[in-house]
Amino acid sequence: MTAMRSIKIFDTTLRDGEQSPGCSMNLQEKLEMAQSLVDLGVDILEAGFPIASPGDFESVREIANTIHGATICGLARCNDQDIDRAWEAVKGASDKRIHIFLATSAIHREFKLKMTREEIIERAIKGVKRGKAVCDDIEFSPEDAARTERDFLCQVVEAAINAGATTVNIPDTVGYTTPQEYGSVIALLKNRVPNIDKAVISTHCHNDLGLAVANSLAAVENGAGQIECTINGIGERAGNCSLEEVVMALKTREDHYQCTTRIVTPRLVPTSRQLSSITGLQVQRNKAIVGRNAFAHEAGIHQDGMLKERTTYEIMRPEDVGFQKTDLVLGKHSGRAALSDRAKSLGYTLTPEQIQPVFDEFKKLADKKKEVYDGDIIALIEHQLHGA
Ligand code: KIV
Ligand code: ZN
Repeated sequence: MTAMRSIKIFDTTLRDGEQSPGCSMNLQEKLEMAQSLVDLGVDILEAGFPIASPGDFESVREIANTIHGATICGLARCNDQDIDRAWEAVKGASDKRIHIFLATSAIHREFKLKMTREEIIERAIKGVKRGKAVCDDIEFSPEDAARTERDFLCQVVEAAINAGATTVNIPDTVGYTTPQEYGSVIALLKNRVPNIDKAVISTHCHNDLGLAVANSLAAVENGAGQIECTINGIGERAGNCSLEEVVMALKTREDHYQCTTRIVTPRLVPTSRQLSSITGLQVQRNKAIVGRNAFAHEAGIHQDGMLKERTTYEIMRPEDVGFQKTDLVLGKHSGRAALSDRAKSLGYTLTPEQIQPVFDEFKKLADKKKEVYDGDIIALIEHQLHGA
């Protein structure tokens, strides 16, 4: 039997997530979210980008000084000023990390940085060494790694590890890669970079093609030991890998992935709701894991199956992600079994003769309404029983 691997969850809700339009948070809101993320069990909490603004610096510093139970991380571009500022912000934490990034793809080198490959390697080494002089825990990200020439990516990763990086993150910055391709990049790094075992390989996937979770899982299958993700998948453009989805995929398919995380999964829904209420950005109803419909069943055949044996139509227990219970929604697709069950839970035990006319009236009402509520059911039953 293979041993379970433990995967680190690096949450970037307060940094990459906050970069998404409409998601900025004030200091108090960031502190509240940071505490909830620690309670959720994240291993590393990226609290912000300290050089970005005085407010960002302040919130990273406050989180570092007051929130305990996770490694607190600050982001920096690969230059002295950014790295020093990030260190100033995180240094009060018991466990701290500086996350340094530098773009490596040909597009970024040519159009954004106007630097040669040699200059990129030199800059990466210099930056990682500067961070390492003050902080043991250094993460290095070759930005746009997924579109970087493979040979060059291997060289940069090797140089960053030699300079002292303890985590090497492989960002799919523009959400362009596919699971098979991204998995093969991780496998290549594992096989080709001689010092790769001295660092943890991390995934950082954006969701432009809706593949961020699948890509992150492919990376894990090929040896990545850290996943970067956000609550509700918020982040630049189409967002980042969704924490709740990737964690529940690992947990539900533990048989396949053979990996565990420290996430306290019943805290997923409360944390998701808290973020929505702070940012005002609601998740869609059918969002996997935390959406209102994630454990709701309306079809009669499904409801009947669920009432007989839950696992007929549910692969996770609602309690395991923080919902109170499965929701058998009463609507036009529902059947007699679900109606009788709801009547019972409302205090009415109806005989088959009594349920039939209630069911007929219920179907007529359901044709007019999207959802039939408990108040409607009570009215229908009372009318049948007492003509009220
Ligand atoms: O998407 C990205 O490349 C990033 C880096 C800063 C890691 O967010
Ligand atoms: Zn990103």
